Order: sequence, then C-alpha cells, then structure tokens
Amino acid sequence: MNNLLKGKKGIIFGALDENSIAWKVALKAKEQGAEFILSNAPVALRLGKINELAEACSTEVIPADATSIEDLEALFDKAMSKYGQLDFVLHSIGMSPNVRKNKAYTELNYDWFLKTLDISALSFHKVLQVAYQKDALKEWSSVVALTYIAAQRTFPGYNDMAEAKATLESIARSFGYHYGTKKKVRVNTISQSPTMTTAGSGVKGFDVFYDYADKLSPLGNASSDSCADFTIALFSDLTRMVTMQNLFHDGGFSSIGMTEAFMTE
Ligand code: NAI
Repeated sequence: MNNLLKGKKGIIFGALDENSIAWKVALKAKEQGAEFILSNAPVALRLGKINELAEACSTEVIPADATSIEDLEALFDKAMSKYGQLDFVLHSIGMSPNVRKNKAYTELNYDWFLKTLDISALSFHKVLQVAYQKDALKEWSSVVALTYIAAQRTFPGYNDMAEAKATLESIARSFGYHYGTKKKVRVNTISQSPTMTTAGSGVKGFDVFYDYADKLSPLGNASSDSCADFTIALFSDLTRMVTMQNLFHDGGFSSIGMTEAFMTE
C-alpha cells in the first residue's frame, strides 16, 4: 500500500543510528508520504548519526531531552509553527543507568532507578501532557510508544526497565482515556520482539533471550523493519478505532507456552 501517511505530519523521537527502530519508522513514514521532525537527546545528536537520517528524510533535527518539559515545549512549539497541528508522534526512547552500569536488580541504585523511570516512562507522559496542553494533536491522530514483554513477565537481565515498561504501558491506557475523550487522540504501545539495537544489546544476556524468543515464536522474532510497518499502520487511518492497547508485535511469542521443537530438543 502506498501513501498511507500522505499529508500527515508528526514528530519521531529516538532515532540514534541505522539499527534504531525509530530510524526504520522514519524511513517508512517518509516513503508513505509523511512529513516529520526528528528529535533526540542532545547527547545522542553528538554520538549518533541522526543528521544522516534527517538528510535522507529531507527534514530537520530538533534536540530535546524527553525528560525536560522546557525542551519538549520548545520542540512542540517549533513543530506546530512548521506544520500546525500534528497527526502522529513516535516515542522510541529507553535507557536505564542500572542496566548500563551492570547493577543487579537486588542492588539497584535508586537515583538511577528514578532516572530509568523518568527517561523510559515518565517522558511518555511528559510528551503527551505537553501535546495535550498545547492542543498540538489533531482529532484522530495517533501516538505510539515502544515497549517490551518484560512488563508482564520476568526477564532478569531487563532489570529496572521492566518497571519502566509497566509504567509506560499504563500511561498509554490512562492518557489514552483522557486524550480520547477530549479529542479522539489514540494512544497505544507496541510490544516488540528483542531487536539488535543499541538499547537492546545493552541488556545482559540479550543474545540468549534473542535466540530463545526467536526459536519459541512460531513466526520467529519480528524485525525492526516489520515493527516500522506496524507503526505506520497505527499512524494511518486504517486503525482509527484502536486505542489504549498494548499490541504484541512478536511473532506469537507472547501467546506461546511450549513448542514441539522445544519438547523434543
Ligand atoms: P536505540 O538505542 O536505538 O533507541 C533508544 C533511544 O532513546 C536512543 O535514540 C536514545 O538517544 C534515546 N534516548 C535516551 N535517553 C533519552 C532522553 N533523555 N531524551 C530523548 N531521547 C533519549 O534502541 P531501540 O531498540 O531502537 O529502542 C527504541 C525503543 O524500543 C525503546 O523504548 C526500547 O526500550 C524499545 N524496545 C526495544 C527492544 C529491543 O530489543 N531493542 C524490544 C522492545 C522494545
């Protein structure tokens, strides 16, 4: 299908390099006729390759630390002065200092835990609240954030990110209610398979549970490219009545108990 997002405008948070899920979403959104601003934390602008992506998408990068209301307000002001009200927002942001510094779950640093929650979950509320207060989103627009099944089940290496994802998914439901009632804005999370990215491979034992999920899922792990396809579908008008959902995009992993292949191994 072509031009699913023709005429639609948005903001895409979280493209760091070509492995990032947000990177793939940006390329597909452009392919489908959307116009958008790219945003990432100022430090990521220095370390990543987002300017290359901006060039490929004929757009600009506006830095914003997603934990800073001030940065988010400035970003939405700029986006609205360029496009008027927006049609879609992608929140593809996650980071845990505890994971990054190899802290065990039973020895968490609580200042870092708060940072994990702020960056990986509260930032979603902040994005939504700034958009809500500025009336930045059109009716029937679509907001998507990325999450992981560790919100429902325990994956030890995922550490305090599990709490962040549980909170993130809850924010999608709660804000989905408020924004839906007020303005018919849709808010959903996509629960994606393990994916080889900077955030993903920072998780301890990532290779092992990547392979485990791949073997257990009838369709295998979902790639970042197919995650981008699903995100485009959620931004499009084909999914207008979908909101307040956590949607598993994982090749069937979340519904599997046991497979014959595992039993005979
Ligand atoms: P990534 O490392 O490419 O993207 C994470 C992004 O978060 C980076 O661009 C980083 O700069 C940004 N970020 C960190 N702190 C920020 C801040 N304060 N303000 C603004 N941006 C900030 O990795 P990936 O995998 O593309 O991650 C995107 C989302 O997908 C994350 O929410 C992640 O948890 C989620 N996810 C990833 C999976 C995986 O296995 N890679 C599986 C399921 C969900």
